[in-house]
Amino acid sequence: MELELDRVTKQYGSKIACDHISISFQKGVYGLLGANGAGKTTLMRMMCGVLAPTSGTIQFNNIDVSHEDYRDALGYLPQDFGYYPEFSALDFLLYIAALKGLPKPQAKEKAWELLEQVSLEKEAKKKIKTFSRGMIQRLGIAQSMLNNPQILILDEPTAGLDPKERVRFRNLISRLGTDRIVLLSTHIVSDIEHIAGMILVMKDGSLVHQGTRDEIIKTIDGKVWECTLPQSEADSLCEKYSVINLRQESDEKVFLRLVSDEKPGASAINTQATLEDLYLYYFSEVSE
Ligand SMILES: Nc1ncnc2c1ncn2[C@@H]1O[C@H](COP(=O)(O)OP(=O)(O)OP(=O)(O)O)[C@@H](O)[C@H]1O
Ligand SMILES: [Mg+2]
Repeated sequence: MELELDRVTKQYGSKIACDHISISFQKGVYGLLGANGAGKTTLMRMMCGVLAPTSGTIQFNNIDVSHEDYRDALGYLPQDFGYYPEFSALDFLLYIAALKGLPKPQAKEKAWELLEQVSLEKEAKKKIKTFSRGMIQRLGIAQSMLNNPQILILDEPTAGLDPKERVRFRNLISRLGTDRIVLLSTHIVSDIEHIAGMILVMKDGSLVHQGTRDEIIKTIDGKVWECTLPQSEADSLCEKYSVINLRQESDEKVFLRLVSDEKPGASAINTQATLEDLYLYYFSEVSE
């Protein structure tokens, strides 16, 4: 099983939303991390055949994205997943199954199987408008799984979930990733940290890093600093650097954790980097 992106580029007028992106996906969960406007949705829509690349190729087992066989292998949960609030969960799945051309008896069996898999079997007959955000997202996963896809693309599936739903969702995605390619985008670092074997970092349309969590974190080794300082000195560091953590230690002293290429002060000491540090290092100017 191999999904291959070769120099995939999308240009809107003079704006390059995706710039020569090359990635090779095998079975497993991939996390696509990037700030707003990084190009995550654009890339995913091209991988789903919804949007044509300006240049470059996308192939699954040597089958081009424009081919019907590619679409048959694909499941997609869009960022703005459109559901029908008046439908029940079961009816919605049957409706999508019909659109996907599944025969009726098979569709019914599959719908129930998926409702169970996403823990919505008890809510099967309830209207979607009564569902929580987490339940809607789980239903979204179920609809994307109707054709038992080998490639599953989830655009910000954890946005707006509470911590309990988030954990449940991560477990679900990890399970789905055991025998297919799963790509999910997010700007929530902890989601990726817990489920993605491989991490892709996108910035301004470019893929700036790809690798395991540890490989990616290594790229900012020696750039994370901690120090405890008087308030006035802390204030000036906050102006100059991307501060990850600030904690009042006493009336006079403030503890700071920050990312910087050079040592930010005499008392600063290097500390072990995390994925969150990395995110701040690359995206701090965007996320402010
Ligand atoms: N149809 C379009 N026409 C022109 N520009 C577009 C279009 N769609 C996206 N863009 C631009 O391309 C860039 C990438 O957008 P995209 O939606 O892919 O980012 P994203 O990483 O998914 O962001 P978010 O985290 O907000 O969902 C942005 O600058 C956006 O404004
Ligand atoms: Mg997006």
